[in-house]
Amino acid sequence: MDHLDLPPLSGAAGTVRLPGSKSISNRVLLLAALAEGVTEIHDLLASDDVDRMLEALDALGVRWESLDEPGRYRVHGAGGPLPVKHGDIFLGNAGTAFRPLTAALALSGGHYRLSGVARMHERPIGDLVDGLRQIGANISYKAAEGYPPLVIEPAEIRPGGVVRVGGEVSSQFLTAMLMALPLTGVETRIEVVGELISKPYVEITLATMARFGVVVAREGWRAFVIPGGVRYRSPGAIHVEGDASSASYFLAAGAIGGGPVRVEGVGRDSIQGDVRFAEALASIGARIEVGDNWIEARAPTSGRLEAFDLDLNHIPDAAMTLAVAALFTDGACRLRNIASWRVKETDRIMAMATELRKLGATVDEGDDELVVIPPEVVRYGEIDTYDDHRMAMCLALATLGGTGIRINDPKCVNKTFPDYFAAFASISRPVPVIAIDGPSASGKGTVAARVAERLGYHHLDSGALYRLVALAATRAGVPLDDEGALAALARELPVRFEGGRVLLDDDEVGDAIRAEACSLGASRVAALPAVREALVLRQRAFRRAPGLVAEGRDMASTIFTDAGVKIFLTASAEIRAERRYKQLLEKGMAANMAGLIRDLRERDARDAARAVAPLRQQEDALLLDTSGMSIDEAVDFVLDAAGAGT
Ligand code: DC
Repeated sequence: MDHLDLPPLSGAAGTVRLPGSKSISNRVLLLAALAEGVTEIHDLLASDDVDRMLEALDALGVRWESLDEPGRYRVHGAGGPLPVKHGDIFLGNAGTAFRPLTAALALSGGHYRLSGVARMHERPIGDLVDGLRQIGANISYKAAEGYPPLVIEPAEIRPGGVVRVGGEVSSQFLTAMLMALPLTGVETRIEVVGELISKPYVEITLATMARFGVVVAREGWRAFVIPGGVRYRSPGAIHVEGDASSASYFLAAGAIGGGPVRVEGVGRDSIQGDVRFAEALASIGARIEVGDNWIEARAPTSGRLEAFDLDLNHIPDAAMTLAVAALFTDGACRLRNIASWRVKETDRIMAMATELRKLGATVDEGDDELVVIPPEVVRYGEIDTYDDHRMAMCLALATLGGTGIRINDPKCVNKTFPDYFAAFASISRPVPVIAIDGPSASGKGTVAARVAERLGYHHLDSGALYRLVALAATRAGVPLDDEGALAALARELPVRFEGGRVLLDDDEVGDAIRAEACSLGASRVAALPAVREALVLRQRAFRRAPGLVAEGRDMASTIFTDAGVKIFLTASAEIRAERRYKQLLEKGMAANMAGLIRDLRERDARDAARAVAPLRQQEDALLLDTSGMSIDEAVDFVLDAAGAGT
């Protein structure tokens, strides 16, 4: 699947059980591998990054089994350095596997090559390598200096004393040193050079190490002392918390889309810094409640989030969610101190600025900050995701602006949250659509218009669009079989629907498109796939809050497949002919019943037989035979089906 079309939403509410935290999953796996004893892990995240770690451990001689329950694993600890002494390890784009494994392998006394995808080779690792070299590790760069791929050779490790590690590029370098150094058994002091970023991730590291029996002494964020003579010991069983970064999307959905949205799996006692995203949301007006193992978000009482200016260094990943939430605030928003975004899965500052602009925002990109000025209304956009799971996940929130969006390469969410879009759909309240189809002269147009009026919904007469293409083509002298030219015309069609009026280039054409010549032209252009394709997004754009009644051939089958109500409205050919007969007489036109019936039957047969979007009742559509019904009765039937009956 190369793209995913997300429907526009009118709100969000519900409960989501979070997948396990990526950061905790990969730390727990590595420590379980280095520990003495067997560790049973519960709720391990199922994702690409965790798979890379599992594969690497397998290749490095650590035995593990996946147990019956999802997320449950048993790891047989090596009780020290990694047992296999030769390995060519591929780690994809998993920073949480690459950095700690580099440190652990540097102390394992073997010959290893570590590589990843192209982007991994653009992500710096020099600060970690420099730190490891201080204790004698033999690591060399195989391509650019300071970047993977790496080659590690056996070396005489001289632990103890003081090791200095840079903290300004990624906290994972410190994390990697902290986790690996207990392998030496010698007391070592790690000093952080420069201002440490993403501090809460180091808290996760320390808390996880403590669960495996190694307690690190610390002096604030400047120095950490690994005690001598310690070893990792399995805690027996360990549960992985829900992913707090993933929680941010759902909490923001609740804060933007009304809510309440509750996430389960993280709460008051979480060791993950990203739970503080909830505080950031609260600071801009969201109503937040926190329990032991859940967090819930609702929209501000005022209905709208407030503009913000926040230092987000402590929650760099969840901060991306705030960049998208900025679309729904009441003014310019500034996200400060986020330079680490530039060395993540992609250059997230550049990527976010580019994509938010597609949605209508005005964005200013600084070296280490982003200023987002929300648009009046969020526009339709085709969102690129840069092989970055978080780009895909947070930008899905834009649909809460009431406009659908397209997400390109949506499977990038597999990195941390393979079921993300299903979870997002489960709390989504899509703008409702009532799709009505049926044969010519069945009265679907009249019924659709009245239902829309009764519900205050928008109304899409899709047939009018095909009629307009035919009319515009005739006026421009485009032959009705020139598929390419017709599709181009359809894409750019300068049409406006205002009240009951239809304007083509400011010219009122409501009557012209109903003329017989236009009907014939419409049925010809509607048979051309390129023309149909060109009108897809234009039709979907009619779906805006509070709802849409969409009338026409393929509304239920193609354009709005997720329509909550699908109606196939029909009547016998005789009754339809009679209705048309009356209409024609009212307009003072001549009419002939037998001819009308014959015409309708012929058109039905032709419409049902055609290859493209044939006339057919969808399996999930309700049949409404109006032969013996008044218009009011038919309207009431549809309203009933929509749960809005009188
Ligand atoms: O519903 P109508 O008579 O205004 O439709 C005009 C033509 O366009 C008719 O031939 C059916 C076709 N049509 C279509 O193919 N797909 C739609 N969604 C709507 C109309």
